[in-house]
Amino acid sequence: MKKLDYNIFLIGFMGAGKSTIAERLHTKYSMEVLEMDQVIEEQEQMPISQIFEERGEEYFRKLETDLLLKLKEKRNLVISCGGGTPLRICNVEAMRESGKIVFLTASPETVFERVRDSHNRPVIEGNKNVPFIASLMEQRREKYEAAADFLVATDGKSAEKICQEIMQLLDNN
Ligand code: S3P
Repeated sequence: MKKLDYNIFLIGFMGAGKSTIAERLHTKYSMEVLEMDQVIEEQEQMPISQIFEERGEEYFRKLETDLLLKLKEKRNLVISCGGGTPLRICNVEAMRESGKIVFLTASPETVFERVRDSHNRPVIEGNKNVPFIASLMEQRREKYEAAADFLVATDGKSAEKICQEIMQLLDNN
């Protein structure tokens, strides 16, 4: 596949499938993947939950912004963002400078099934239930939608199908 002269940013709520789809795009199109949470964990040498606990959420959010600013010079990367990344307008602006933003959606029920056994998501830890997820998702929806160039619904679709949809949207726009 030809190299893209832009990056693909995958955004969406926790458990929307950003990492899975990024990994699939890597396998299918040999695109290099950058997993924001993972880069931040490596840089800080601690899991996200510990960063939140010891340094606080604002500190974590600043790390996200710093990382995005560094990515402005890169191209042809698939970037799997943290679920809260598009909530800051400066982050969205940084993403727009180098890439196209794809919003992956999933129902609160699907998200719940995907996150129920994880303990590295401090924003929902202690509140892992469908009503809480639905309410936080609703609070964030407007910002996700405003950030997105494209929206891809993931419920009931295979990773293969989702990747095809993404590539088609990017090809045609
Ligand atoms: C967050 C989502 C997480 C991670 C952090 C905060 C959020 O990423 O960045 O726990 O505010 O939605 P995932 O969407 O990859 O779980």
